Parts: sequence; C-alpha cells; structure tokens
Amino acid sequence: MKEAILKLLKNSPGFLSGEEISSVLGVSRTAIWKHIRTLKKEGYIIESQTKQGYRLLKVPDRLYPEEIKEYLDTSFIGRNIYYYQSVNSTNMVAKDIAEKGFNEGTVVIGEMQTEGKGRLGRKWYSSGTGVCMSIIVKPLIPPSDAPKLTLLTAVSVAQVIQQETGIKPGIKWPNDIFLHGKKLCGILTEMKADMDQIHYVIVGIGINVNDNSFPEDLREATSLKLETGSDVNRLRITGMVLNKWEENYIEFLRHGFGSIRSVWKDYSVNLGRDVTVHTLQGILEGRVMDIDDEGLLLVQDNQGIIHKIVAGDVSLRKEGIGYEN
Ligand code: BTN
Repeated sequence: MKEAILKLLKNSPGFLSGEEISSVLGVSRTAIWKHIRTLKKEGYIIESQTKQGYRLLKVPDRLYPEEIKEYLDTSFIGRNIYYYQSVNSTNMVAKDIAEKGFNEGTVVIGEMQTEGKGRLGRKWYSSGTGVCMSIIVKPLIPPSDAPKLTLLTAVSVAQVIQQETGIKPGIKWPNDIFLHGKKLCGILTEMKADMDQIHYVIVGIGINVNDNSFPEDLREATSLKLETGSDVNRLRITGMVLNKWEENYIEFLRHGFGSIRSVWKDYSVNLGRDVTVHTLQGILEGRVMDIDDEGLLLVQDNQGIIHKIVAGDVSLRKEGIGYEN
C-alpha cells in the first residue's frame, strides 16, 4: 500500500487529495495518513496541506529497493533486493541468504557496512555515501571459470562510470577500478562450490560515490564526487551497474568470455606495464603481456618466462622510483 501511495504521488504533478488516493486505492484516509507518516520517517519530503492533500517534494538519498527499481531494466538481476540501513557486510548477509536458497540475481544492499570486506583479508571502508552491494547468482559454469565473473564485474562498473561521467576509468587486474590514478571501486567475489559445480557466487561491489574525503590511510582512494566535482545520483549508479551487469552476464553465459575479455583489455592499466606481483607463492617482477582466455594475467619475467597469475596483488612499477598502485 505504501508503495502504491508513493507511486500515485510521483505521478501527480501537484497536490493529490486524501479523498482521491482513498478512492483509487480503496483505503481509508486514516490509513493513507499513516502511510504518509511512515514515508516521511523514511526521508521522503511530503508537503501536507489541509483541503489540498499531499505533494511529494523530494525522494531521499537512500538506496531503497523501490527507488532502485525505477532505474532497472533487468529481467532477473535486482528483482529481489534485501535492503539494510546498516549491516556488517553485504557479502556476509548474501552468504546467509544464499545458504537458505535464493532467487537468481538477488541483491543485498547496505547503506553502511561495519565490517566491509576487501580482497586478501583487507577491510573495505564504507561511510554511507557510496554504493555497497552484493549480487547472488548460480551460474552453470565450471567453478574454475568463476574468476571471470570478477573481470565481468569490473568491466560492467567501468562501462557505467564512463557512460555516467564521461571519464574513462582504468581497471587494475583483476578488478580494482581507478579514476585519475586513485581507487574508486573494489570488487570481492566469493563462491561456494564442489569440484564440478557452483552452489552460489557472491559478487560484492563497493563504489565510492559521494565521499568528500577518506581516512588518512586511504590517501589513494577517490570518489565520483571528488573526480567530477558534483554530487552523483547513487540510485542511478546502482541501477545502471545492475543493468550492465545483467547484460554482460547474459553475454558471457551465451557466448563465452571473448567480448568481455576484449573490453577488459581496453580498460586495463596493466597491459604492457612493468609490475610487481605479490602472490601466495612469492613476489614476481615482470611485464604484463596479456590476460588469457581464462582471465589469468600473463606476466613475463626478465628471463622471458611467462607466468600465469591466478590470484595476487599487482602494483605498477614506475621507472627507477618505486611503485604506484
Ligand atoms: C577490494 O578492493 O579489496 C574489494 C572490496 C569489496 C567491497 C565490497 S562493498 C560490498 C561488498 N561487501 C563487502 O563486505 N565487500 C564488498
């Protein structure tokens, strides 16, 4: 009922009387008043005038599912959204949901995360002005192909950022997104699988959107607002990323990794660059030659040997003067 009232208010350019709402929706005016009160508590700014009725003045800057859906043109991604004002980690919540059974493409959104997880055991800083979400899917692909979903996600976010801001971001392998040399988005993909089948994949996406500043130890981070100079609509960014993600996911499932790989290469800041790679096996120095059909990074060391990197942390080497991330 609350959603129906909101829809009527959105479609009405001027005031809408309680009487009109009550006759369209078949509920009492007291019930309408109670729903309006709830909407106001949720942050909607609604003007109430005796005799004239109600007028919606402003939608709050919150990632409410019913607002995100206004931007969605997906068939299954984000059609089922769990929303939290504050959450430990959307990936952790997504895991609990996935364990109990889920609809393909379910999305978990948290305005704030108290224990946001990053790659390689790091933390992800979320202040409430960004987008933190996790997508749950069960693709019919071999578990060894799951890392391709991470690259697919990086490509999707990069495409949306370019489309929305006009600035071309860079992707650092496997999935960090940089704008003007600073990190804007991180992706954490987690999976439950047997040897031969995936039970679920959780794709966690953190985008810094309207942050004005970052803690001292995150000097290398940036936000869309800091780079564009103006506030960015978080609802729109969320909706566009989910739309693009579904488009790329369908392309990947139907036609394989080829076209995602070539778009990834177009955004890559690693190709042809000298890098240092920290892996569980040790440290490797060399030049990035390519990513292969499996999404692995191909690094050639100074003896000409090509190493296939499955997982690790890559830093770009600046000539003679150390490293940049
Ligand atoms: C990284 O760059 O290290 C990956 C960061 C991933 C952060 C996102 S925010 C939404 C989702 N929930 C989490 O706890 N982490 C991911």
